[in-house]
Amino acid sequence: MFVSDNLSVNEKGHLTIGKVDTVELAKDFGTPLYVMDEMMIKEVCKSFKESIDKYYDGKGLVCYASKAFCCLYMCRLMSLEGMGLDVVSNGELYTAMKAGFDAEKICFHGNNKTDEELEYAVDSKVGRIVVDNIYELERLDRIAKAKGVTVGILLRIKPGIDAHTHDFIRTGQIDSKFGFALETEEAFEAIKKAIACENVKLRGIHCHIGSQIFDVDPFEHAAAVMLDFIAKVKNELNYELDELNLGGGFGIKYVESDNPSPFETYMEKVSKVVKQKCSQLNIKQPFIILEPGRSIVASAGITLYTVGGIKEIPNIRTYVSVDGGMTDNPRYVLYRSQYEAVVANKANLERNKTVTISGKSCESGDLIGENMKIQDIEVGDTIAILATGAYNYSMSSNYNRIAKPAVVFVNESRAHVVVKRETLDDIIRNDIDV
Ligand code: LLP
Repeated sequence: MFVSDNLSVNEKGHLTIGKVDTVELAKDFGTPLYVMDEMMIKEVCKSFKESIDKYYDGKGLVCYASKAFCCLYMCRLMSLEGMGLDVVSNGELYTAMKAGFDAEKICFHGNNKTDEELEYAVDSKVGRIVVDNIYELERLDRIAKAKGVTVGILLRIKPGIDAHTHDFIRTGQIDSKFGFALETEEAFEAIKKAIACENVKLRGIHCHIGSQIFDVDPFEHAAAVMLDFIAKVKNELNYELDELNLGGGFGIKYVESDNPSPFETYMEKVSKVVKQKCSQLNIKQPFIILEPGRSIVASAGITLYTVGGIKEIPNIRTYVSVDGGMTDNPRYVLYRSQYEAVVANKANLERNKTVTISGKSCESGDLIGENMKIQDIEVGDTIAILATGAYNYSMSSNYNRIAKPAVVFVNESRAHVVVKRETLDDIIRNDIDV
């Protein structure tokens, strides 16, 4: 009935998430409100781990890409689920460390890590720093030397794969700011340099070909390219790379027409390629790391809004204004991302209206979506936008000094706040009042 199967309709005709009535949530916690279904997140983690056990004999680690949604509670949940973590800034690392996350299971990313970030990662004993460029390798080796330690690293490689997704979120092709290029021998030279560094231990290589990818083929292709490179390093440098991090990017269903491959299919096919390639190339099977972000949290989340006004412009369109917008969900503005919308208090009715849902920011482009199918809508209704668990809260802003919404986790029939709603005092928190 809805894009995410944790959503349903109760006897009052209200939309439910887990076992909780979303109209009640809006009443109890206010709107706009991010709501996440904890049970669903746990189930997804479990299915990722089970697929690795089934198809790759458990020789892998799933590092949740925390950029998709990060807070203390989420880091704790991932730790309890036995996941690793991908962080990309000192802010994400700080959150993880404060949550008591096992640093050995953290991969630290970023194409321009500052000295401060590198020092923090080294001091925190992060298991793998994913080195993006030669300057970073040199700086990291120097920092580790000064501290008298050796740090584990992976090198980020651009495998030259052009995955079919939005231009801004594909990263594995040659024209990308991320990583070392294979074609130009840049990657091979970096490997030589990393092996020669005294205070880094090269554990393996990493690639990430993009995000919201539906097909498995580009992932199979990327794995094959990376294994050829591991073989080249073994044959020419007599150095065995133990780990292969294949990044994240698995697509999810935002609207009915989306048809992402199930993760199980991905793991089955990619494991097959890895095993075949390893025996052909006579290299050992690497420990595999995966970094899903979106696919862990997107479908588990919804955003609730209250309708404040409706403007029907005859023969043009109907604007439905909600009490949030691009500040809590900038993805339509950035990528023209499509979402499904439901009137939460009329979820049992047919979606027979077509509307544009607009936000409250002072910006004409501040839209959640255009031509959205929705039930007959009135001022005061609660709207739910579905599958907003990834890259919504984490990409939110305070434009127009709008306070960020709260995040509530639902666990079966229980609901509790994990991130408080910002207050007006939060808005002026850093202002110097002279
Ligand atoms: N690993 C690396 C190195 C990444 O750069 C990313 C995402 C991931 C893992 C996780 O990818 P996922 O499984 O979530 O697709 N803001 C955009 C998405 C940007 C993704 C950036 N990197 C959006 O809202 O669609």
